[in-house]
Amino acid sequence: MSRHLVEARDLAYDYPDGTRALGGISFRIAHGEAVAIVGANGAGKSTLIHHLNGHLSATRGEVRIGDVPITRDTLPAIRRRVGLVFQDADDQLFMPTVFDDVAFGPANQGLPADEVARRVDGALLRVGMAALRDKPPYRLSGGEKKRVAIAGVLAMAPDVLVIDEPTGGLDPHARRQLLRLLAEFTHTRIFTSHDLDMVLELCPRTIVLARGRVMADGPTREVFTDDALLRECRLERPLAMQSCPLCSAVRRKQEEGDGTDHHVDRGRSRAGLR
Ligand SMILES: Nc1ncnc2c1ncn2[C@@H]1O[C@H](COP(=O)(O)OP(=O)(O)OP(=O)(O)O)[C@@H](O)[C@H]1O
Ligand SMILES: [Mg+2]
Repeated sequence: MSRHLVEARDLAYDYPDGTRALGGISFRIAHGEAVAIVGANGAGKSTLIHHLNGHLSATRGEVRIGDVPITRDTLPAIRRRVGLVFQDADDQLFMPTVFDDVAFGPANQGLPADEVARRVDGALLRVGMAALRDKPPYRLSGGEKKRVAIAGVLAMAPDVLVIDEPTGGLDPHARRQLLRLLAEFTHTRIFTSHDLDMVLELCPRTIVLARGRVMADGPTREVFTDDALLRECRLERPLAMQSCPLCSAVRRKQEEGDGTDHHVDRGRSRAGLR
């Protein structure tokens, strides 16, 4: 199925002030893949994903969705297929109410009003924002805005879901809820994130960017165990992959025949039991 393939071919981008943000990037993402794009601040992640639905157009090279290159002529069709959530939700929300904002995309697709309403209510429920449907978006907190922006894209039922920093600004409960939601989405997913534990959980494949170039592209666990690569790209292993020094000591003790669990031990001494 090539129709949902996302492909970048030698993609380069210079901002108008001359900053070279992307220096020739190539990758292919197949239908149904969940791929993370990670890298330090300024690595080029947001610039890259703004090319995936034509929000920015390449200085050199191209992006193709399926067999269709993104051009001025193909843009409306591409935007129906690729849903992009910006890093800063303020760039995305502009209607008088949450409901109107989430309805904007499906209404523009020409769907009948009852179908638009059904999609909006469904999307707001999925991100846990149904109670705030009549509020003006500018009166929401940062994390609430992010969730409304995600609902707006979900309501368009895109083939490819692209989210810049999905968990940025979310509280732990909202983050967990979003992770479940994103895991259920069966089409292609592309996320940028500094939340490497989220990446580990959701994305079997990771692309590492540094200074506008691809430094690695492979299975997430392999990427996250390459400590030299992580150091060079100013990244660190996700917490779930950082070994606990006490656990390692306990493992050594257990191998030597002492089965004490230090977590229980610590609890006991805190409670004054020994
Ligand atoms: N509008 C702009 N004009 C000029 N340079 C820009 C502009 N936006 C971004 N840049 C530069 O382009 C480079 C890549 O920025 P980008 O926003 O893509 O990084 P990022 O990887 O998304 O970083 P972060 O993790 O902070 O979100 C940086 O050097 C940045 O300073
Ligand atoms: Mg960014």
